Amino acid sequence: MRLSRYFLPVLKETPSEAQIVSHRLMLRAGMIKQASAGNYSWLPLGYKVLQNIERIVHEEQKRAGHIPILMPTLQSADLWRESGRYDAYGPEMLRMQDRHGRDMLYGPTNEEMVTDIFRAHVGSYKDLPLTLYHIQWKFRDEIRPRFGVMRGREFLMKDGYNFDLTKEDALHAYNRHLVSYLRTYERMGLQAIPMRADSGPIGGDDTHEFLVLAETGESEVFYDSEITDLKFGDRDIDYDSVEQCQGVLEEFTSRYARTDETHDEELFNQIPEERRRVARGIEVGQIFYFGTKYSEPMGATVTDREGNQVPVHMGSHGIGVSRLVGALIEANHDDKGIIWPEGVTPFHCGIVNVKQGDAEADAACEDLYKALSAAGLEPLYDDREDRAGAKFATMDLIGLPWRITVGPRGLKNGVVEVTSRRTGESEELAPEAAVARIREIYGV
Ligand SMILES: Nc1ncnc2c1ncn2[C@@H]1O[C@H](COP(=O)(O)OP(=O)(O)OP(=O)(O)O)[C@@H](O)[C@H]1O
Ligand SMILES: [Mg+2]
Repeated sequence: MRLSRYFLPVLKETPSEAQIVSHRLMLRAGMIKQASAGNYSWLPLGYKVLQNIERIVHEEQKRAGHIPILMPTLQSADLWRESGRYDAYGPEMLRMQDRHGRDMLYGPTNEEMVTDIFRAHVGSYKDLPLTLYHIQWKFRDEIRPRFGVMRGREFLMKDGYNFDLTKEDALHAYNRHLVSYLRTYERMGLQAIPMRADSGPIGGDDTHEFLVLAETGESEVFYDSEITDLKFGDRDIDYDSVEQCQGVLEEFTSRYARTDETHDEELFNQIPEERRRVARGIEVGQIFYFGTKYSEPMGATVTDREGNQVPVHMGSHGIGVSRLVGALIEANHDDKGIIWPEGVTPFHCGIVNVKQGDAEADAACEDLYKALSAAGLEPLYDDREDRAGAKFATMDLIGLPWRITVGPRGLKNGVVEVTSRRTGESEELAPEAAVARIREIYGV
């Protein structure tokens, strides 16, 4: 992409309505525009990051054997009457009527709808295990939408639902989700710590929330500092292996880590004092096992091996896809702007031409642009007639992790400069070597 042809409405002024850094930076970098309270349009740069997050979520869900579907945002109230949640849910649910006077709602979550799909089409234990998921907009009429996309009213969520014959099988599905979530967040360059949590209106017995540590987080968290040393890394996990998934769950949940809702002072105080941490965190996901809470009232049964009709054991598993954009910025920024991790960056690198109109500099930039594009990378080439300082400031603000700077002086010596946004360190390299360096970073 050439910046002269792109739509990147960066703001010079710091917007006064934004209270936290991620919201400020998303507005300043032209990533989003508020449409109404808690409701945002995604502008090109923000939309690219959102899509990158979606892609990683899809890839990791499919790797775990989960099957993508797409359910509508609007749901019939009748389904929710069957589960008893239509009355239980409260004013967070946006309710409406269609022209025939039928009660509808904008889905805040999809347990009922997916259970309805299941009961219509699945009747035997032979079709299990099954996990269906989708990435779809949700609406929750939050009492206080704030912090930009972090607590929106309309927001994008990945929600997945497992159907299993027994509680044991459903707990394996739970563990499998925990493993796949660890991988998912790490691929985005984030550490999200599974913490024991409260189940809220979803209901159920077993549940963990995934929290990204950040001062601006809305949850108070208590944990053993040893937990932050754990890395999932690129270990090869067989998602069908009960032992392997259980092993990962034990490794990542055996140390104390809880949110304020489940915090137990007595247990916490058993940790050596120097390892006790009290901090704040952003909830970026949650997994639940809730057994037959929905399958029983809604009649989602299968025949088991003995020919009995039994309700299936279920769980649901959510990732806050749009909230992650904000959480990533909270965890990755400095006073100049955003610093995208390579896994989610909207463009792989920036090309800054410090002397637009200089024949040699222009030609070198074009060559870099073509070579990077041919390698399957997406560079953002700042080809505008502007001061070098202003171009650098824009690149720093929008946070591309790598920048190639091209100018007549370097070119006289046959070099361009490759700069890391995170460390600020620069390397002088021949243009071909700069391309090779960026390709190596992204493994292409
Ligand atoms: N209002 C919102 N705006 C953006 N993302 C949200 C919002 N509510 C929930 N999410 C995201 O969706 C994920 C799954 O939804 P879940 O039902 O667990 O939310 P929740 O526990 O009600 O969230 P919270 O406690 O933050 O209100 C959450 O972990 C979070 O990342
Ligand atoms: Mg939650």
